[in-house]
Amino acid sequence: MSLKGTRLRCGLLFSPSMPTETRPILPRLLLGPGPSNVQPRVLAAMGQPLLGHLDPAFLAILDEVQARLRRVFGTRNALTLPLSAPGSAGMECCLANLLEPGDAAVVGVAGVFGERLCEVARRIGARVTRVECSWGEALDPGEMRSAINKVRPRVVALVHAETSTGVLQPVAEIAQATREADALLVLDCVTSLGGVPLRLDDWGVDAAYSGTQKCLSCPPGLSPVSFGERALRRVRRRKQPVQSWFMDVGLLGAYYGGGARVYHHTAPISAIYALAEGLRIVEEEGMAARAERHREAGRALITQMQALNLVPLVAEPLRLPPLTTLRLPAALRGAAEAKLRRRLLDEHGIEIGAGLGPLAGEVWRIGLMGENAQRHCVERLAAALRALL
Ligand SMILES: Cc1ncc(COP(=O)(O)O)c(C=O)c1O
Repeated sequence: MSLKGTRLRCGLLFSPSMPTETRPILPRLLLGPGPSNVQPRVLAAMGQPLLGHLDPAFLAILDEVQARLRRVFGTRNALTLPLSAPGSAGMECCLANLLEPGDAAVVGVAGVFGERLCEVARRIGARVTRVECSWGEALDPGEMRSAINKVRPRVVALVHAETSTGVLQPVAEIAQATREADALLVLDCVTSLGGVPLRLDDWGVDAAYSGTQKCLSCPPGLSPVSFGERALRRVRRRKQPVQSWFMDVGLLGAYYGGGARVYHHTAPISAIYALAEGLRIVEEEGMAARAERHREAGRALITQMQALNLVPLVAEPLRLPPLTTLRLPAALRGAAEAKLRRRLLDEHGIEIGAGLGPLAGEVWRIGLMGENAQRHCVERLAAALRALL
């Protein structure tokens, strides 16, 4: 007898598209550009009983998270908070607060996420001047300085760790040029927070954002953001209100700004438990040791991959330890690389990332982030590739 169109005991109509079985989710080794695997202690923390977002017991955890975020960002900025949204929303939050329609912005474009910064600024109505470099290289501070001096922008924005290329961008010189022109510096730290030491205050960064799913080994969904006093002064002097109600830091400050915690939106309690645990783990290890572990894993990866004829795209001083881009040999370029990545996933449970933009089909992107910045992850990937190649 066909069940099509019959009502089941649960009251639902049977449809042929209903799943015939409940499929278990198989664990993967996540060695792509993010997310990385979640630390088991972080997963356990998420299972704790839910508290209300104004419960003093939860607010104590939120205080702790904000204090730890300040330390890992290298800042004393009071307004440092876990925005309830992914990294792209952190980007939008920084730019939407600091730019008004008609303002000039200088954006460093060294890959996909520099492009995204331009697009977000453009949609806000800013006049965007791009400073570009080849994919796989870093922005030239001299070119950034010239553009800043010529345009006299309100905001300068760039990516610290460009996940599409695997370049770690030096920041201090560009930050100095920004400060001398009395502009504000926005820094994308999505792939650096928790994997590379950050010193926002020493560098002179006015606003920064990140994500939790990379070197913090937490699930995706929160964007740590930090606004310094110069940035907040700029927000207070805006002519127009921030277009986004949700991301207006003046309003977010009522809940996250210290002092009385007033309802703004219902905070994602379980995700904040996870972040609290992820940040405790960072401090237990110590940021210097953690950064060294990322560097060591990156070096081990390059040694193992060179033996397989996969060579790094980025020159040594600019390499981003949590994310390595590897040039593929001719035989693996184009459609062949996608097939091999699929086999790596299906047969070995390992995810790695494809190249993006001009690097599509030319490179792989291997993430060794947070929990996964370990030699055994490198060994597992190398063994799987040896079996497949
Ligand atoms: C450098 C960089 N910026 C921004 C983002 C956007 O973050 P999300 O995907 O969490 O929105 C990413 C994500 O991979 C990234 O790598």
